[in-house]
Amino acid sequence: MSSSAAAPALAAEPTTILSDRVLHMQESATIAMAKKSRELAAQGIDVINLSFGEPDFQTPQYIKDAAKQALDEGYTFYTPVPGYLDLRQAICDKFQRDNNLSYKPTEIVVSTGAKQSLTNAVLALVNPGDEVIIFSPYWVSYAAIVELAEGVAVPIVGSLENDYKVTAAEFEAAITPRTKAVMYSSPCNPTGAVFSRAELGAVAEVLARHPGIFAIADEIYEYINFAGEHVSLASFPEVKNQVITINGFSKGYAMTGWRLGYLAARQDIAAACDKLQGQMTSGTCSIAQRAGLAALQGGRASADEMVQAYHRRRDLVVAMAQDIPGLKMPVPEGAFYVFPDVTAFFGRTAPDGSVLHDSGDLALYLLNDAHVASVAGDSFGAPDCIRFSTAAADDKLRTAFERIKNSLGQLQ
Ligand SMILES: Cc1ncc(COP(=O)(O)O)c(C=O)c1O
Repeated sequence: MSSSAAAPALAAEPTTILSDRVLHMQESATIAMAKKSRELAAQGIDVINLSFGEPDFQTPQYIKDAAKQALDEGYTFYTPVPGYLDLRQAICDKFQRDNNLSYKPTEIVVSTGAKQSLTNAVLALVNPGDEVIIFSPYWVSYAAIVELAEGVAVPIVGSLENDYKVTAAEFEAAITPRTKAVMYSSPCNPTGAVFSRAELGAVAEVLARHPGIFAIADEIYEYINFAGEHVSLASFPEVKNQVITINGFSKGYAMTGWRLGYLAARQDIAAACDKLQGQMTSGTCSIAQRAGLAALQGGRASADEMVQAYHRRRDLVVAMAQDIPGLKMPVPEGAFYVFPDVTAFFGRTAPDGSVLHDSGDLALYLLNDAHVASVAGDSFGAPDCIRFSTAAADDKLRTAFERIKNSLGQLQ
């Protein structure tokens, strides 16, 4: 057979060469929605994109300056796999200052973002068939990461009445002999819920009764908290050895593009993450690490300024959303999202005659009619809801929610 005859056969079955792992994986819903909204924007339509979980602030200048200085000083070589020692020491100091947690640099692994830290932790702990309980609604990538490790994601859904927070009793009821870990974020993406000391204390009590279960506590929104106290699960001494704390620079320091995150865990787990990372990506970018060190040395002041804006926007959006009949939601206490229940609109008819069956239909309707991009709740384990980011300028948020109100008002 000539090579030209063989070519179409390969082209006709492009997906069969791919692994089940990637074929079964869903594309990130937030990235997919952002793509659609960019397509509309390219047609000249004024789309307000509230689908992305990204601060609209620039990285503070002192952090940028540290990165420039790092380049000038020649920080252009491979870095130690778990991160520069002085950065890991600064992360330990941060844990002591903010979270009353004592870690050694050997218990810290710096990565290319909290997303890689989460992946490291799951790959280090989960064997095929192990169950990972996920407090739901959850951040879009949790289930995909567990499935990548051939684990079984077990979402348990908190009730709207309890601000979508899973209770310790609900957690304990979901434990089986196969449970290896539990994952959650607080402040939570997508709901904005913040677990209180009492609530996390009760979770810690359950964990203490199950020493073979590990908790992956995602604290990436730690600084974006309007409720007051941020509590680290690892700060309950009886379970510190069972907790892997995930954090990073993307949200608090507006450093999404730098790709810098970290985890803290007992030494054997940290060493396993270091080993995994050493075979996959090595140490993260030298310049980003020097910038991260400067960020931490600068303390929380720049984050606090941004948080004031997030707080104001939260109030603005909540007030506007409460004025839209049919949207039901708790008031977010942290992060930068609102996550209303939108079931009141299911089964309603749009002006073009199409019926909106679910939150995916509603998100598409709002994109096409209101020109506002959001993300349907199913990818967060909450198909009754829809997520809007509030990390946008006040006037954009005002216009977006006026348009949303108008479009929802047209549904029959
Ligand atoms: C809950 C949660 N965890 C982790 C991440 C990933 O953060 P990073 O940019 O540090 O990878 C995000 C980003 O949206 C997030 O919302």
